[in-house]
Amino acid sequence: MIDILRAIWLIFPSYVANASAVLLKGKTPVDFGRKWRNKPIFGRGKTWRGLAGGTLAGLAVGTLMNQIYPTFSDGIESFLILFSLAFGALFGDLMKSFFKRRIGKERGEKWIVADQIDFLLGSFLICFLMNREWFLENFKLNYIAFLLIFTPLLHLVTNILAYALKLKKVPW
Ligand code: CTP
Ligand code: MG
Repeated sequence: MIDILRAIWLIFPSYVANASAVLLKGKTPVDFGRKWRNKPIFGRGKTWRGLAGGTLAGLAVGTLMNQIYPTFSDGIESFLILFSLAFGALFGDLMKSFFKRRIGKERGEKWIVADQIDFLLGSFLICFLMNREWFLENFKLNYIAFLLIFTPLLHLVTNILAYALKLKKVPW
């Protein structure tokens, strides 16, 4: 498989996890509405349903992908790799919100680049911690570099498209 397609394939479960959290948006916030130093810990945009549903959706799609084209190892190892990618995506998103609140940005306010690559960094980190050997063998440095550039661009294009289709009110 050519490198670009393989890189996108490898990160696809994270894309699914991230997008599913938005679609499944829940009610109960992860921080239960609590504050820290007068600002929300994570904010109302991070819910338990998004966290759990996104993780499960990424895991499910990844498992299906692995049946079609085995790429994520096998057995319990593949479960752990896919879990780390899917959960890592939401974990990265959550950590981003933590720091976003600390610098005083409101829930939903724009934070360019951080908003687009938070979930990638989370997936990379948690997957690396989960299975260093598999991660280093599969997520080559050039794959990581490509995905860090490609993902914000993809984000931009899909948002403009969603705006053009009147699914979104603003083109970002
Ligand atoms: N979402 C959720 N649970 C999560 C992540 C996302 O319910 N763990 C839903 C929320 O409805 C959220 C939406 O997906 O508003 C968009 O996600 P995101 O852009 O990450 O959150 P923001 O609302 O922009 O909040 P923040 O400023 O903290 O990024
Ligand atoms: Mg946002």
